[in-house]
Amino acid sequence: MTIKSLQCRECKKEYVPTFKYICDECFGPLDVHYDFPSVSKNTFANREHTYWRYFELLPIAEKSNIVSIGAGMTPLIRAEKLGQALGLNNLYIKNDSVNPTFSFKDRPAGIAVSKAKEFGLSSVGCASTGNLAAATAAHAAKGGFPCYVFAPSDIGHAKITQALAYGANFIAVDGTYDDANRIAAQIGDSKGIGIVNINMRSYYVEGSKTLAFEVAEQLDWQVPDNLIVPVGSGAMLNAICKGFEELENLSLLGKVSGMHIVAAQPRGCAPIVDAFKKNSSDVIPVENPDTIAKSLAIGDPGDGRYVLKRLKQYNGYAEESSNREILDAILLLAKTEGIFTEPAGGVAVAVLKKMVEEKKIDKNDSTICYVTGNGLKTTEVLMEVLSKPETIQADIAKISAMVR
Ligand SMILES: Cc1ncc(COP(=O)(O)O)c(C=O)c1O
Ligand SMILES: [Zn+2]
Repeated sequence: MTIKSLQCRECKKEYVPTFKYICDECFGPLDVHYDFPSVSKNTFANREHTYWRYFELLPIAEKSNIVSIGAGMTPLIRAEKLGQALGLNNLYIKNDSVNPTFSFKDRPAGIAVSKAKEFGLSSVGCASTGNLAAATAAHAAKGGFPCYVFAPSDIGHAKITQALAYGANFIAVDGTYDDANRIAAQIGDSKGIGIVNINMRSYYVEGSKTLAFEVAEQLDWQVPDNLIVPVGSGAMLNAICKGFEELENLSLLGKVSGMHIVAAQPRGCAPIVDAFKKNSSDVIPVENPDTIAKSLAIGDPGDGRYVLKRLKQYNGYAEESSNREILDAILLLAKTEGIFTEPAGGVAVAVLKKMVEEKKIDKNDSTICYVTGNGLKTTEVLMEVLSKPETIQADIAKISAMVR
């Protein structure tokens, strides 16, 4: 690839692509703009089964700087049984829960850590609601970087354990994600740490574009009708849109303007849904998020207003789901498709169900539901609704009587 510039999303001022993420003029976020080489569908056809197959469309200059743990090219599953249960004839699950660290965050984290290597930084880190901690720590381990994770102390046990196992320095902040994020921003800038989702954010978000590239390729370069996307900060939803638009501009896809995009948030932390329903462009932060979907518990979403813009652009919707609806959706997905997701994926499936019930999605449309994290990371929330099996004496007669 060749990066042309970093361009301010607001005032469009262009900058030389360095270790920089905010516009000096208006404090707007900077996005990567490219001079793409000419590519065709065949360029990617027989490449490795990771998101690095799209190297020409990603912001890394030298292949030698790639830090890869084999993420991406996750299955796009034709979900016939879940589709039947919901009343959809053409439903697909993008199962990103099977990435190496078990969430989609391996995509942005891998790009940011590779870019940190390209910039010659000496350490990396992140502010995390849980999944990014593991993804950053694993890529840091592979790339040989010290890693600093800043996260609220109440994220799930499995997520903390996982990041520690990869060798991260884990700073468990007594506060919300937004508190952890503020601290990470200040420490990152003062100590020159590449905080993947803050001062490396322009490059970081580019990784999530590959959620668009893969779906397009897996659909044999057809444009889907609907996308259901779980939303925390909104970075992933924006990046997916950018990805589809880049494919159209490269003539790899037809017009993408007919897609509909649905933003899914959990009740108790749904500031974007609130703004959407009030038809307001102001996202009012939620001070104390309260939801079982902890990975989406971002009260002050950095890309919130850009998500609202995307929903306008793509005739989309924003909807929320309650804790109970999230748990029911996790079990429905597990029991119909054999896919076990964490609450973030449950939020997407629960909101999809509402969209069908409210006839906002046509039953014959091609619909992609992004399932972004793995259920094994959050088993504690499910034990609220599943009963722990009773221990039975190892007696054939007794046990045989229990089996039909
Ligand atoms: C599993 C999962 N899905 C979705 C999201 C939302 O991503 P974003 O913050 O880019 O909106 C997150 C964020 O942490 C996540 O961990
Ligand atoms: Zn600007």
